[in-house]
Amino acid sequence: MSTNVDPTTSIDAGRLLRRIAELAAIGADRLGGVTRPGFGAADRAAIQYLRDTVRADRLHSTVDPAGNLIIRGGARSGDRPVLLMGSHIDTVVNGGRLDGSYGVLAAIEVLTTITTSGPPTRCEPVVVAFANEEGALFQQPFWGSLAIAGGLADTTVPAVGVEDHSLSDALRLAGGDPADIQGAAWPPGTIESYLELHIEQGPVLERTGARIGIVDRIVGRTVFDVEIHGTAGHAGTTPMSMRRDGLATAAHVILAVQRIAAERCLCRVATVGHISVAPNNTNVVPGRVRLTVEIRDTTTESLLVAEAEVRREIKEISERTTVPISVTVTTRVDPRSTDDRLRALIGDAADALDLPSVVLPSGAGHDAQIIAAVAPIAMIFVPSVGGVSHVPEEHTADEDLVAGAQVLLHTVLRH
Ligand code: GLV
Ligand code: MN
Ligand code: MN
Repeated sequence: MSTNVDPTTSIDAGRLLRRIAELAAIGADRLGGVTRPGFGAADRAAIQYLRDTVRADRLHSTVDPAGNLIIRGGARSGDRPVLLMGSHIDTVVNGGRLDGSYGVLAAIEVLTTITTSGPPTRCEPVVVAFANEEGALFQQPFWGSLAIAGGLADTTVPAVGVEDHSLSDALRLAGGDPADIQGAAWPPGTIESYLELHIEQGPVLERTGARIGIVDRIVGRTVFDVEIHGTAGHAGTTPMSMRRDGLATAAHVILAVQRIAAERCLCRVATVGHISVAPNNTNVVPGRVRLTVEIRDTTTESLLVAEAEVRREIKEISERTTVPISVTVTTRVDPRSTDDRLRALIGDAADALDLPSVVLPSGAGHDAQIIAAVAPIAMIFVPSVGGVSHVPEEHTADEDLVAGAQVLLHTVLRH
């Protein structure tokens, strides 16, 4: 570990900001946001943009079988342990330009700086842009990081469509290999540390005036698919007493889910974020309704309690309304702590750069929590204006974007 780091060693701020703007143009949508779901055409174009960009920096890029983009300073040597840095470049539908992309572009900036002009580092810095972190279309969030952490060992590529292609074809077009997802796993012990720089996506840094956030814990998350089997019928002739209204039943479910977090405080947050109704006509009693329930907390115990409560409430609503409801858990991601030593390095780097920092938990999920299964992890946050994210208004001041990248660079140099 080096503590004699020259505090004037710097990334190229102008290059970083220019690339953030260039990447944001790929998948720019008509509502002022970015729509670049994992494995879609815009995501592929973004990967190509990054590959062209890093080639100009004389870096080397490859795409692994799961569709992750891996960037190295030189040909793989294997004689130094890897310090992995990165995030994702896929977005939610109509999302912002910084979630994920900022961390990838800043990591590339750090790698370019070190490779072209930086002092030698003990570990080999490697950058990764994880595939499909959000799971916006192909609903397996953290797909790429799970593959690298060996978490897809028993997985075959599901037969689902993404935009105009099957997932397998989309993966192949992105440079992956659907027949060898397991080949994306890194052997145990090969990643010495993982660092992820990200916008906070919440209000804490702005409120406290700190420029840098040091994450201590990342929330876990359980996602349910709920299917409500109501009976469709004529809205004028079906008496109220004879209805099995799927949407009215869904309303009970939505409010029960909200109470679990907001009033009963069984978990940090609980959200019904997606609903579809069939047949969805003004003059038809709603029949089948599908919705998602998502709960998050920093402890596994609270998640389990809240999960049991979601199931109990739904069972009770189903009995009361006589409408059958099926519940399936589609995603379960554990909460994770970050590494003490890496947190201290980030704090030292921020101090050396005269940037006030604060320790805080992450309410958003990140690839870091998946990589935590195979390596010590840490996360650096920069302020989000208004605390908003996953919306076009997502914004961070340029000086904060640059400051975060500087802290990442100086953390790597101290590592
Ligand atoms: C990831 O973006 C999340 O939903 O937390
Ligand atoms: Mn996100
Ligand atoms: Mn993200």
